[in-house]
Amino acid sequence: MRINPSILAADFANLEAELGRISNADLAHIDVMDNHFVPNLTIGLPVVERLQQVSPVPLDLHLMIDDPARWAPLYAETGAYSVTFHAEATDDPVAVARSLRERGARAGIAVKPGTAVEPYLELLPEFDMVLVMTVEPGFGGQSFMPETMPKLGVLAQAVRASGIDVWLQVDGGINDDTIAIAAEAGADTFVAGSSVFGAESASAQVDRLRSLAARHTH
Ligand code: DX5
Ligand code: ZN
Repeated sequence: MRINPSILAADFANLEAELGRISNADLAHIDVMDNHFVPNLTIGLPVVERLQQVSPVPLDLHLMIDDPARWAPLYAETGAYSVTFHAEATDDPVAVARSLRERGARAGIAVKPGTAVEPYLELLPEFDMVLVMTVEPGFGGQSFMPETMPKLGVLAQAVRASGIDVWLQVDGGINDDTIAIAAEAGADTFVAGSSVFGAESASAQVDRLRSLAARHTH
């Protein structure tokens, strides 16, 4: 069970201090948005490079950007532990994934709520993680979409059947209530923005979410 707080809900004027609040997390989830793939803009390479230097935990980059074939390798070169790009943004996800692994990063592929996972099942050995978006990407603080859960069941079964080690991540609207639903559906890696950074003690909330997820896994 991994808990990856999203700094989208953190204080952007104090990111080093905010990362210090989640030093007990598994990874820090960094949302990169380009105002093209999603209608919002966050941070890019120079800021990610600097976060990499000051973060107490490895970085889990979520690229909500067009043209990942061009940009994702550069993010991997920052030393990020994991780089996830969107399936909808490329017609050659395998080439992008291989470029990430060649640079020493774990390769993740993300799907929006309306994107089916079946076309990607046979490609699973090329990836280290699948991110099932549980909200429309672009903004924090949205409500969890339970209709995305069947995709986790399909993925969990395919991962089990092939015996490979692929993490299954959920992102969007994860809180004390919804984490149980996602864990029961088969997720093992949980992104939480507002629920962690909005808590008085972010680190206590990380521990709380981790134990809730563990209690509902099977
Ligand atoms: C949404 C981002 C999420 C977001 C989650 O596009 O990918 O990582 O920060 O925020 P919460 O947990 O507030 O839904
Ligand atoms: Zn994200």
